Amino acid sequence: MVTVRVPAKVNVQLGVGGVRPDGYHDLANVFFAVALGDQVTATPGAGVTLSCDGPDAAAVPLDEDNLAARAARLLAAHHGLADPGVHLHIDKAIPVAGGMAGGSADGAAALLACDALWGLDTPFDTLLELAAELGSDVPFALLGGVALGRGRGELLEPLPVSGTFHWVFAVADGGLSTPAVFRECDRLREESGRGSSLADVPTPDADPALLAALAEGDPVALAAALGNDLQAAAVSLRPALADTLHAGTEAGALAALVSGSGPTCAFLAKDADSAAHLAAALRTSGTCRTAHATHGPVPGAQVVSAPRP
Ligand code: C5P
Repeated sequence: MVTVRVPAKVNVQLGVGGVRPDGYHDLANVFFAVALGDQVTATPGAGVTLSCDGPDAAAVPLDEDNLAARAARLLAAHHGLADPGVHLHIDKAIPVAGGMAGGSADGAAALLACDALWGLDTPFDTLLELAAELGSDVPFALLGGVALGRGRGELLEPLPVSGTFHWVFAVADGGLSTPAVFRECDRLREESGRGSSLADVPTPDADPALLAALAEGDPVALAAALGNDLQAAAVSLRPALADTLHAGTEAGALAALVSGSGPTCAFLAKDADSAAHLAAALRTSGTCRTAHATHGPVPGAQVVSAPRP
């Protein structure tokens, strides 16, 4: 039996370029891994099967398209294993379809767990390539820490960061579809007359003030530099998110933004005490289903228990 712990992410900057011929958008995506995370446990089995525990387990599709199952099959195919056998159990804490890459995290965790269970010793660079085949956010869940994602988000460059930042995540009822939020972003750009094609939208780049705030471990400077080009689209599809963002700011957050494609909202806090206070205030605000205080950055997917050699 192998258990892997894997972090959720928040995008401290999500710069979205024009839509590419393949339908993806070029990004300047600054990923930040937080301690709120899932655990995936791999045990020997017949075929690839899944189960899931946790408050939102009922919302997790346990079919063959689940990224954890796809990860197991992809790793087996890469190594020419004709008949892979594994049962993957997901302990789910990351909001489902919440803009925190929870499905991607489970895909990354399954790659690592199956690699250990099957004794494959796949090089880390190969795991990153397989992760990129599974989805744009999967490689970062392996890497963790803080990283700039270029291309569709899969080309990663680790970034220097100091200290610990404290976050609160307000979880909404129900998820948002990532493709639908990208489409809404394009629609809003068209509607405003700016256009949404590669020729219309300048190629996004990482904000130097944001990179400096991370390197210096300065939450006030980071708060001033946070930005998410998908936020307007997420709020357009889910107008109630404006109330959640406002409630967090009123309760003392340094800054509020939609996490990735939403609908989870992220709040940066001054320290651990203000994060705990902020989470309590959000839970009683009536603007979200629940709220979690957490911190980061933390490492990427890691084996926390494995079979004895
Ligand atoms: O790569 P992944 O399968 O996670 O992406 C899900 C969807 O999100 C894509 O099909 C696309 O609609 C949208 N997307 C995008 N540009 C990106 C990443 C994702 O348009 N850079």
